[in-house]
Amino acid sequence: MDLEAARARVDELREEIRRHQRLYYVEDAPEISDERFDELFRELQELEEEHADLVTDDSPTRRVGGQPVEGFPTVEHAAPMLSLDSSVDEAALRRFDERLRKALGDEGVVYMVEPKLDGASVELVYEQGRLVRGSTRGDGVRGEGVTENLRTIASIPLRLRDDETPVPPFLAVRGEVLINIGAFEALNERLLNEGKTPFANPRNAAAGALRQLDPQMTASRPLEIFFYDVLAAEGLEVSRQRDVLELFRRWGMRVSDLSRPAASVEEVLEAYRDLAERRDDLGVELDGVVVKLDELAGREAVGSTSHHPRWAFAIKFPPRKEITRVISIFPSVGRTGVITPVAMLRPVEIGGVTVSRATLHNREEVARKDIREGDRVRIQRAGDVIPQVVERVAEDDRERQPPFAMPERCPSCDTPVIERGPRTVCPNALGCQAQLEGRLVHFGSRHALDIEGLGEETVKLLVERELVGGLPDLFELTKEQVEGLPRFAEISAANLVEAIDRSSRTELARFLHGLGIPEVGVTVARDLARHFGSAQALLAASREALEEVRGVGPKMADRIVEFLAEPHNREVVESLLGRMELEAPQAPADGEAGELPLAGLKFVFTGGLDSHTRGEAKAVVERAGGRVTSAVSRGTDYVVAGEDPGSKLEKARQLGVEVLDETGWNELLRERGLAGA
Ligand code: IVH
Repeated sequence: MDLEAARARVDELREEIRRHQRLYYVEDAPEISDERFDELFRELQELEEEHADLVTDDSPTRRVGGQPVEGFPTVEHAAPMLSLDSSVDEAALRRFDERLRKALGDEGVVYMVEPKLDGASVELVYEQGRLVRGSTRGDGVRGEGVTENLRTIASIPLRLRDDETPVPPFLAVRGEVLINIGAFEALNERLLNEGKTPFANPRNAAAGALRQLDPQMTASRPLEIFFYDVLAAEGLEVSRQRDVLELFRRWGMRVSDLSRPAASVEEVLEAYRDLAERRDDLGVELDGVVVKLDELAGREAVGSTSHHPRWAFAIKFPPRKEITRVISIFPSVGRTGVITPVAMLRPVEIGGVTVSRATLHNREEVARKDIREGDRVRIQRAGDVIPQVVERVAEDDRERQPPFAMPERCPSCDTPVIERGPRTVCPNALGCQAQLEGRLVHFGSRHALDIEGLGEETVKLLVERELVGGLPDLFELTKEQVEGLPRFAEISAANLVEAIDRSSRTELARFLHGLGIPEVGVTVARDLARHFGSAQALLAASREALEEVRGVGPKMADRIVEFLAEPHNREVVESLLGRMELEAPQAPADGEAGELPLAGLKFVFTGGLDSHTRGEAKAVVERAGGRVTSAVSRGTDYVVAGEDPGSKLEKARQLGVEVLDETGWNELLRERGLAGA
């Protein structure tokens, strides 16, 4: 390549790299894979090595990372936070080893092999053993001061232990902040449920959590840290990396127990293979191993480039991503009517698992990634997450199929679909077979018709055996039909049929809740019942009339109208009304008008909420007349399950107690006029 051509390419690469660094580091919305980015970066590095004239101070190779975002103070690191030289290639490791042996002699070359933790790198500064400052890596020289956010991470000591070993007066260390794979999946599932874009991987989720402007938000994400390097220190006498790690441990700083010494390339490779094999069982994401010179004196001797130290090298694991082809894209109707585009793939093995389908999330995601039938695509599997289509792999001379379009009618029941934000939804809640099981379970649940014995498994059997094809069919079930089901005998069958029969006489509010109208929870159902007094009056209500009901806003009114106007839904509701006897609600008793909005309700909280700390949530409930208890029982009205919920969630499900996720919790507050509480 001549100088002019090289200059043009260098400019182009720099611009592209800067853009992708911004997308990746600042906006947490990468458009290309890490592998592709590394390729671009390496190409630029090589060009700059060949043409020293083209090197400028503002080249991305001179400055790793992205710009600090607004909103946090800029913090200069105690020493530059460099990157690592890396490769997936064993030969590159051997060259690294040879260079060091040449410079230091065989004697001086012993390594520490550490897991390469795939999280967000941070600097933490301790003065007199106290945490005074913490920052993200930023551009390597300066990062964002996120001290308050870091302080919320339980594994970061606010004060170092000095009872065994004295702590230096000044200590700047580096570590990796991570989110474990289970928590990452739960977070993504929640984001998807809320119609938001999920994080591409645990690293982005951790980095995103660190950059929350509100430390409460960070605190609600289960972040962890591992420490692995001293950036700068005063009064620290230590000569080997293994001793650094041991000191960290003694000072109460978390270090990975997967690190070990290695005397040769062979031993390094052994450690690498061992970790590569255990990779899926570790609970946190590793993307390789870091090989570091153990002797700190040797590090001084070989020094660093502006990008990476010459004394460390990362061997990356092969990506848990594979390329395959999309055979077809089909819309799949979920239990609540949300229609998800799913890619059927030419089967491909990723990390020991054969993948033949992957989610494309929703209409907007398919369009954004521009995935069409027949395309070559990159598939990713992180932990146990449902495989995702990461991106399309361009093919120059292949004619593509037309863009994928979501169906205009529900593939299960042929009802015209509706669009709700990025999602496509089948509005035929009560008539669509794909939604039937979920609807039946909800109809029989505790705050609805409260039909004992109508759990998930029974519902599944009833639907599978075609004994129930819609909600009204429940009331036609006979003892004989139920007796024929596995796990049922004469008495249990009689009990179920009787329970269903009993439930046909119920309160209007329970019936309305049981219909599963979007946005209509227990409270709104009660308010609707009180306001309209009969199902017929509600069916006849206009949008305007609905908006007059306490707690019903325009959006909710729309949902209710939409639901009741859908012909199948209406048919089902009318058929149910013909079989049921609904009690009109009692007029509110005297003095009840002034009743507190959560009077008499018992709540249990589990897992973290973004909107409230546990203490705040408790205060909100108590001020509104409710109670918060720690154990779930049959008397519990709601279990509010945030991120990473504990065993209480399981208990709630067993007992049939209504579970609210964060959205549901906020909705309840809104319904009760407690929004912003
Ligand atoms: S040492 C200058 N050790 O990998 C050397 N880095 O791709 C400092 N990383 O930005 C890095 N685990 O965030 C080191 N055990 C480990 C690591 C590690 C993960 C990250 C680090 C760095 C990135 C480079």
